[in-house]
Amino acid sequence: MADIEFTYLPGDGIGPEVGAAALVVLEAVGDRFGHGLSPDHQLIGGAAIDAGEAPLPDATFASCQRTGAILLGAVGGPKWDHLRNEARPEIGALLPLRKRLNLYANIRPCKPYAALLDRAPLKRDRLDGTDFIVMRELTGGIYFGDKGRFLDASGRDTAYDECRYTVAEVERIAVKAFDLAMTRRRKITSVDKSNVLATSRLWREVVDRVAADYPDVELEHLLVDAMTMHMLTRPTDFDLVLTGNMFGDILTDEASVLCGSMGVIPSASLSDMRGDGYAVGLFEPIHGSAPDIAGLDRANPLAMILSAAWMLRLSFGLDDEADAVEQAVEATLDAGDVTGDLGGSLSTSDVGARVAERVRHAA
Ligand code: IPM
Ligand code: MG
Repeated sequence: MADIEFTYLPGDGIGPEVGAAALVVLEAVGDRFGHGLSPDHQLIGGAAIDAGEAPLPDATFASCQRTGAILLGAVGGPKWDHLRNEARPEIGALLPLRKRLNLYANIRPCKPYAALLDRAPLKRDRLDGTDFIVMRELTGGIYFGDKGRFLDASGRDTAYDECRYTVAEVERIAVKAFDLAMTRRRKITSVDKSNVLATSRLWREVVDRVAADYPDVELEHLLVDAMTMHMLTRPTDFDLVLTGNMFGDILTDEASVLCGSMGVIPSASLSDMRGDGYAVGLFEPIHGSAPDIAGLDRANPLAMILSAAWMLRLSFGLDDEADAVEQAVEATLDAGDVTGDLGGSLSTSDVGARVAERVRHAA
């Protein structure tokens, strides 16, 4: 019997709808396994701005620090697109949340569900058997370097973004990747651009050094441009893809296409471990706020539900509970109980209810 206390940040667009479906599923987990559920509901992003607050209000940040387990829907939308820099939901809420909570390891899975194999643009025989995880460094690199815009000596309007990595930043993400690789197929593909970038040469050097402590893990290095091709031509060869912040951003969108839909992919952003779970974990679907369908009860809630499952496993060490949710999602996909994006006709709340029912009644 555990009390599952977490910070719940529904955010913007479809966030509140898919979030509500995930809460229904978590209630079912609580009932079946005898856990109490205490979501601490807080504002973030455009929802916070509309309430007269900063994109990341102090109360929200304090709750995240206190619970260490965060379930986030999505932030941003056209309503706040006119805002600049730190006033924007993405730059003012998401990036500081990652940075200030030290969520330096982002993981996103690429394992197409059997029921969705034919929805992906890749031929089934190429795709079948694909099962890899991308581990993306999330609090360094070009996202967090010095940036600016100025008129140079000749009066030319100029902008720049600096990319920096320290040895320590690369080392800690590499260690996390190798530790995770030991629980999987013991193979890491590290992706960089070391034929051009100094940060990538440092990246490769440090990853090689960490690899020496893990003789059982096979390590290969690929350049990021080549990786975008290999991911399409031989996706089954990868098990754990380790990369920096911006390359990870790009490669995880590409990987999501292999899964047939962005609507079924969760993510975790993690700090260091504490006891059984991570000291702080942020769990969110990889899709955005989808403003075009917000409020229509049509969005696919499965990525959000799977993010909740990852929170159970990685923040609370509740493996059986997480397995139960993941099995219920798979059964729901197999039964075709899905929203329009996957060719079904169910609403967001219907899909949530079907998954919850399967969690409650599974053997
Ligand atoms: C992601 C998103 C974010 C990122 C945006 C919204 C800032 O694309 O989580 O992949 O670039 O990290
Ligand atoms: Mg992205």
